[in-house]
Amino acid sequence: MEMLAATDGYRHRNTNARDIISATTTTTHAPSESVPPGTGTPSHTTRPGGTAIIDIRSSDASPLANLDTQILDALLLWDEKGQELYDEILTTPHYYPYRIENQLISQRITEIATTIAASETTMLVELGAGSMVKTAQLLTALDSRLSSPLVYYALDVDLAQLESSLALLKQGMNLRHIALHGLHGTYEDGAKWLARPEAAVYRKTLVWLGSSMANVSEQEAGELLGSFVTAPDTGALQNLAGFLVAVDGCQDATRIQLAYDVPGGQSRRWVLYGLEAARRQLGGGRDDAEIEQFFAPQNWKFDGRWEPDSRRYENYLVPTRQLDTTIRGKVVRLEQGERVRILGSGKWAKSDIARISAKQGLEIQNTWKSPELDYSIYWLQPILRRHDSGVDMAGISDGGNNVP
Ligand SMILES: C[S@@+](CC[C@H](N)C(=O)[O-])C[C@H]1O[C@@H](n2cnc3c(N)ncnc32)[C@H](O)[C@@H]1O
Repeated sequence: MEMLAATDGYRHRNTNARDIISATTTTTHAPSESVPPGTGTPSHTTRPGGTAIIDIRSSDASPLANLDTQILDALLLWDEKGQELYDEILTTPHYYPYRIENQLISQRITEIATTIAASETTMLVELGAGSMVKTAQLLTALDSRLSSPLVYYALDVDLAQLESSLALLKQGMNLRHIALHGLHGTYEDGAKWLARPEAAVYRKTLVWLGSSMANVSEQEAGELLGSFVTAPDTGALQNLAGFLVAVDGCQDATRIQLAYDVPGGQSRRWVLYGLEAARRQLGGGRDDAEIEQFFAPQNWKFDGRWEPDSRRYENYLVPTRQLDTTIRGKVVRLEQGERVRILGSGKWAKSDIARISAKQGLEIQNTWKSPELDYSIYWLQPILRRHDSGVDMAGISDGGNNVP
């Protein structure tokens, strides 16, 4: 791993894609290797076929940043080992969201790619890109419909995943118009990075697959969407072409329970891994023994449940005895049986997506729904209101909350 010179305050990595990219691939990609101004210079990479990954993390990107409000942050589950455990869930027949979304993308890829191509997108950013298996399909279809360059950024909080997935993607593809890059950071980091003036000329499409949008609450999901519509710090309108989001709306309790607590125990192992990850994040120190006890797996049990009132499946970890410790100067006491939420999955219908989007100045322009289940991919676009003087975005100036 080699660090590229930083020209814009962000650190740039040049990965050699684990040495599996051939010189032929590099030549093929050369015409589309340019990146937006201020985003680094991957064409200066010293290793053939290198893929630039930019470190956009802010100082509070740690899973412990939210310690005051949440003892176990969902980000704990998305390090390298967490990703491996999550991948094991994907291979089980009960985890329907992954299978259904893959099928849906395959079935509707032509329409999806045509829609993005028609939006005159010049920058595609995938939030929580993960394994990028579906990305490969999307980029192949999109590339064949483009006549000018497009830059693709895979954004993920896990660097190891980003490196290996980008390497595989690049190895397996022969793109004429699309250059592949990575952004290492959280969704919030991504919104700030895209709001820099250097990125303003790029017409952006955001891709958010895997029903990841519904991992957070409805309000948080809305705020995240909104942070790509208007800049988080300045409120300036972003040059957004659209948002492609996949969301699960299934309400079948039995199906959901089986998918999120799979019979082989893979889901439990993944969620319980949060304890090990938290322990590791806290590192050494004089409270080691106490912290060790606090996060010791034998002191906790898994409790996942479908909560129909909030239409969410919630993963909790529950202490099997009273636990006390001090974490970063904060005294923490958990009672036996007290449920600590780590990650949830909302099941949202089209009407929910329409409501969440409208609050942020977005509307559903297209829906591709699975024929099998209530699982859909939505194409959201800014709501435009034309005035004689030009084009104005309804409700955007005040954060998009006054959209009729
Ligand atoms: C459920 S997986 C989805 C992966 C892929 N998009 C798919 O549909 O198969 C979620 C991915 O988002 C990443 N992720 C989770 N929370 C994140 C956050 N707050 N910021 C950036 N990436 C995040 C994880 O590391 C993981 O790769």
